[in-house]
Amino acid sequence: MHYQTILRAATAVVLLLIESVVRGQSSTYTNIYTIPPLPAAPTFTSPLAVSTSVPPTGPNLSNGLALTPPLGWSSWNGFGPNINESLLRDTIDTIASNGLKEAGFVYVNLDDGWQRYPGNRMDHPLEADPVKFPSGIKALADYAHSKGLKLGIYSGPGQTTCAGYTGSQGHEDEDAKMFASWGIDHLKYDSCCAYQLAPKSVVQQVILTMSQALLNSGRPIVYHACHCGWADSWEWAAQYGANQWRIGQDISDDFDYPGNRMKYFFDVLDLLDRGNGLVQYSGPGHWNDYDMLIIGLNGKSQHVGAGCSNVEYRTHVSMWAMVCSPLLIGSDVRTLNNDSMETLTNPEIIAISQDPLGQAASTVGVGDQDGGDLQVYAKAMEDGSFAVALLNRGSKTADMSISPKRDLTVAWDKYTVRDVWKHETTGPYDTPYMVEVISHEAKILRLTQVVANASMPLL
Ligand code: GLA
Repeated sequence: MHYQTILRAATAVVLLLIESVVRGQSSTYTNIYTIPPLPAAPTFTSPLAVSTSVPPTGPNLSNGLALTPPLGWSSWNGFGPNINESLLRDTIDTIASNGLKEAGFVYVNLDDGWQRYPGNRMDHPLEADPVKFPSGIKALADYAHSKGLKLGIYSGPGQTTCAGYTGSQGHEDEDAKMFASWGIDHLKYDSCCAYQLAPKSVVQQVILTMSQALLNSGRPIVYHACHCGWADSWEWAAQYGANQWRIGQDISDDFDYPGNRMKYFFDVLDLLDRGNGLVQYSGPGHWNDYDMLIIGLNGKSQHVGAGCSNVEYRTHVSMWAMVCSPLLIGSDVRTLNNDSMETLTNPEIIAISQDPLGQAASTVGVGDQDGGDLQVYAKAMEDGSFAVALLNRGSKTADMSISPKRDLTVAWDKYTVRDVWKHETTGPYDTPYMVEVISHEAKILRLTQVVANASMPLL
């Protein structure tokens, strides 16, 4: 492991331990950052058959928002708690003018660290730090709105948040109304620290309390119930009014599989594995969240990871689009290089992410080949085509193939293949499509049936 990575990881562990001690003093439940087991992957039939409905239990709350996965930016991965008004205004200006807004990235989300007081809510009010945000959060939201963007904010149900600032415990209605009066559009409500060890019913209750408070606030606010992949939140969070929920702990800026560095950080491939058994819980209005994007961090994360190659960052963004994760850029948008901008603004990748059918990709076909290194993911699209990812997790270049009949269980005799990164359509094919995939690359393809007689119905 790279020296810098070890140093960052050690620093992260020390910080986490400090946070854990702080939280231990202030919350009913403390946090020991254990890793829950992977859920079992479902048996694949056809991507078209995967249900996107949520289980019919729970309070059945819905705000009707986030019918496609939210796209935007979040401050945490690149800046940690070191955020301020000038950074946020610069970020808003950049996103509004460099093509990211046009590509669909509209949420600009403050994460932990905007608050004035470290310490327990019973001892301090929840206010914006007047040094970091002298004009206040409402002015920032007004500024974002004036540029056609949206503003998100962060809190949590404990006495303190994960970074030790005042939480919302006991003040949920008041805080939701305050966020609404500021013009907030997205709330990340982070229960992962104060409630990691809480029984599921308690986690559900604290998520529900804020959900109802947001609904009562009268403002449409996208609700992220962030619980780091614990308490099976994917099984119930949609019913409790959440639009997105994390399926795992924090992402590291690398392809250093298997991860779980410091028993906490997951790499891109770990997170993909975690999501494989959870596809059925994602759908319009309620999304599995694979964590914020690492593209553009280039090893400068506030947390763990020595960075990725351009191919790896492209694979990461492409796969997050395939699995319908929210796409929240975590790096400094003012310094994104041309490669990162090209990756983030590819309209064909955004179209896969934002397809109205909202079906998250499953692993398909003959299954993991070459000892698990070669995986095929597929996602049915609203227009009857399939988005397909041929993912090479291994260290060697490999030949990979996709066949609609064999892998997608559709009776297509002929089909065309659009390579979404080459921007090139080839075919028609009546045999499996073969292509060379380099290490850590994902070829992203769009397969469309060729219908001989246009009046014949699509299968
Ligand atoms: C947790 C979350 C992160 C971030 C921090 C803030 O670790 O998983 O995404 O929000 O808290 O303290």
